[in-house]
Amino acid sequence: MSIENEKTLEVYNKKAKTYLKTSIEHNKLNQEKAKHKRERLEKFIRTNIETLPKGAKVFEIGSADGINAKYIEKLGYEITASDVAEDFINSIKSKGLKAIKFNILKNEFNEKYSAIFCWRVFVHFTKSDVLKVLKKVYDILQKDGLFIFNAINRETREVDEKWVDFPNEYHMGAKRYYKYFSKEELNEIITNIGYKIHTFHKEGGKNNNKWLVYVLKKQ
Ligand SMILES: C[S@@+](CC[C@H](N)C(=O)[O-])C[C@H]1O[C@@H](n2cnc3c(N)ncnc32)[C@H](O)[C@@H]1O
Repeated sequence: MSIENEKTLEVYNKKAKTYLKTSIEHNKLNQEKAKHKRERLEKFIRTNIETLPKGAKVFEIGSADGINAKYIEKLGYEITASDVAEDFINSIKSKGLKAIKFNILKNEFNEKYSAIFCWRVFVHFTKSDVLKVLKKVYDILQKDGLFIFNAINRETREVDEKWVDFPNEYHMGAKRYYKYFSKEELNEIITNIGYKIHTFHKEGGKNNNKWLVYVLKKQ
């Protein structure tokens, strides 16, 4: 795994409780906006996950508070949530979910899944981390399985990567590594591995292009 991801995980390990608290405070700043974002994400999850038979096995990488895993469970799927930081695992378990400590760059999957969900986690991966993650997920997906994830669009940034400690509401007291990807560089890795791009769109930010959103299918 990259030193960038390792150092970022040290921050999450120490500050997961702060992250959980500031995420809630952030949503309170503009409740209408937060509600709209939540509804849009749930619609996106529903539209894609519900193409799988009920009860299918789904794994989430980097669940943090577990809110998305909880929603996937509510839709009728067998979800395993995961993260690296102990305080995140405890928070997920307190929602009644199955949660395991799992670093996608270090640990191996024990079983196959029909879908893997990975939301706002690619932001902390270098390009070589991304290559590893995409390959590892490909290997454990069932045939026709889905890999659903997003990454920040390089088009909307001035640099390829940055260490950021957000001021105000997202302040964690330490910098985390952020990497921005172009659609072209991700598409090249994705197709070389053998995935089919099932759906792709851009969303978020002022120009609706902050995030690159992928649903990949294992052929
Ligand atoms: C910005 S948070 C997003 C959390 C959640 N998915 C969401 O959308 O609210 C990034 C998450 O990625 C996790 N993460 C970063 N690197 C990881 C790795 N190598 N393996 C597993 N999780 C990782 C962090 O612990 C953190 O929970």
